[in-house]
Amino acid sequence: MGKKIITLSAMPQNTQRTPTPTKKRSYCQNFPNIKTDLKQLNPKNKTTENPRTHQKEKLLPKFPEHQDKTFWRGFGGRNRPPMGGLGGRPPKSWFFLNTSPIKQRNPNTTMTHLFDPYKLKDIVLRNRIGVSPMCQYSSIDGVATDWHLVNLGSRAVGGAGLVIAEATAVEPRGRISPQDAGIWADKHIEPLHRINKFIKDQGAVPAIQIAHAGRKASTARPWEGSQSLKDDEEGWETIAPSAIAFGDEVWRTPKEMTLEDIKEVQNAFRTATIRSLEAGYEWLELHFAHGYLGHSFYSPLSNKRTDEYGGSFENRIRFIIETTRTAREVWPERLPFTARLSCSDWVEGGWTIEDSVELSKKLKSEGVDLIDCSSGFNSPDYKNYPFAPDWQVPFAEKIRTEAQIATAAVGSITEATQAEQIIQSDRADIVLLATQMLRDPYWSYHAALELQPKETAKALLPVQYGGRV
Ligand SMILES: Cc1cc2nc3c(=O)[nH]c(=O)nc-3n(C[C@H](O)[C@H](O)[C@H](O)COP(=O)(O)O)c2cc1C
Repeated sequence: MGKKIITLSAMPQNTQRTPTPTKKRSYCQNFPNIKTDLKQLNPKNKTTENPRTHQKEKLLPKFPEHQDKTFWRGFGGRNRPPMGGLGGRPPKSWFFLNTSPIKQRNPNTTMTHLFDPYKLKDIVLRNRIGVSPMCQYSSIDGVATDWHLVNLGSRAVGGAGLVIAEATAVEPRGRISPQDAGIWADKHIEPLHRINKFIKDQGAVPAIQIAHAGRKASTARPWEGSQSLKDDEEGWETIAPSAIAFGDEVWRTPKEMTLEDIKEVQNAFRTATIRSLEAGYEWLELHFAHGYLGHSFYSPLSNKRTDEYGGSFENRIRFIIETTRTAREVWPERLPFTARLSCSDWVEGGWTIEDSVELSKKLKSEGVDLIDCSSGFNSPDYKNYPFAPDWQVPFAEKIRTEAQIATAAVGSITEATQAEQIIQSDRADIVLLATQMLRDPYWSYHAALELQPKETAKALLPVQYGGRV
C-alpha cells in the first residue's frame, strides 16, 4: 500500500458547509444539525469506527482529566473543565461547532491515514502524530537537563512523527515558573542540540515552542501550587498589555508594557528563533495561546490599551503580527513556521473562533505554515466549554477550511481510531497528544499496532528493539 504525502496545496476545499445565513434567525434554525451535533459532542454518545475491524467503538471519557476537577488547577489558574455532558446551556460562541457531517476521504477503503507521511515545507514527518508541548518545570536557569533528554527522547523512540518541546521562555521575565525552560542565552543551545540530535536519530522531527508568559509569569510550579510568587520567594515583576492581574491564585498585577517593552520582547522572540535554529530545531511554534503574552494582547478580556496595540481587532493583533514578522525574517523558508492560538476564550465578550479565522488568514500572509488550534486559559471565568473527546477539533477544521491553512488538532485525543478519524476526514493535518503521551510514550507504536499490519508498526521502533517485539 503506497504511502500518501499530502501537501497544503492539495488540501481539499470543504464545499458542503452550511452557508452563513444573512437573515437573523434562531440558533437552531441557523444550524439545522445542532441538535444532532450537541448529541454527538456528548461523550456518552460518541462512537468511532475502527477502520480495520469495522467495529463501532465508544469514545468514553475514561481518564482522570475528564473527571477530576482539580486536574487542571496547575494549568494556568483555576480552570476546570466541567464534566457530565455539556455542563448546562452552552455559550452562543460555540454554536457553529461541527455543523457539517464528517466527510470520509474514501468510505470504501480500509486504508488508514494516520501513518501517512506529512510534508510541510522541506520537512517530512513520518506520520501525523505529534507530541504536544508540555512544560516540565525542570530546568536550571532555563538550561535543559537529562530529564528533558529522556522525556522527549522516549516519545521519539515511541514512534511520534513530531516532538514539540515545552514552552521555552524567550526572556527570563517570560517564564511561568523559575524552573521553566529558556532560550534567552547561548548557554541554552548546546543541551538542546544534544536532545534534538537524539530525536532526529530516532526518525522524529524536533520542534520548539517559544513563549512569553506575560501576566501568568512568576508563579510556583503546579506541584507547588501554581500561585503567584512573592518577590522574596524568587518572584519577579511581570508585564502585560494592561495592568490587569489574571486572577485567583495568579494574583500578581503586571506592569503595563511601554512601547520600548514591546520592542524588547519582540526582539527576544527574534533572537530565540535564531538560537532555536542553532540548537537544531526543524519546526518552530510561536506560543500565542493559553493566556500568555501573545494571547493577552489579542483578547479583549486582557487588553484595555488605548494606543495602537489595543482597542480594535487590528490593534489587538498588532503585537503578534509584528512578533511573527520579526521571527519569520530569521527562520529559514525551508522549515515549518507555526503558531498556537487559543481559538476561543470561551467567555462572553471574549475572543472568538471567527476572530481566529481572520487572524489565521493574516498569519498565513505573514508566512505562518500551520495553526495549532487550542483554546481558553485567559480568564478564571473560562468554564462553559464542551469538554469531551475531540472537543477542540472543530476549531482545527474550521480554520483549515476557511483560512485555507494547515492545522493541528489537539485536546482529549486518546484513541488510535479517534486520531485516525480526524486525519481521514480532513479535519486537521496532524494530531497532537499531550496527556495520553504522558501515559504512554509508545502511544504511536501502539496506535500503529491497532491500525496497521504488525510489520509496519514494528518498523516504527528502533532497530535495537525491532527483532524482539
Ligand atoms: C503537563 C502539561 C504541560 C503542558 N505544557 C504546555 C506548554 O508548555 N505549552 C502549551 O502550549 N501547552 C501545554 N500544555 C497543553 C497541551 O499541550 C495540550 O494542549 C493540552 O493538554 C490538551 O491536550 P491533551 O488533552 O492531549 O492533554 C500542557 C499540558 C500538560 C498536561
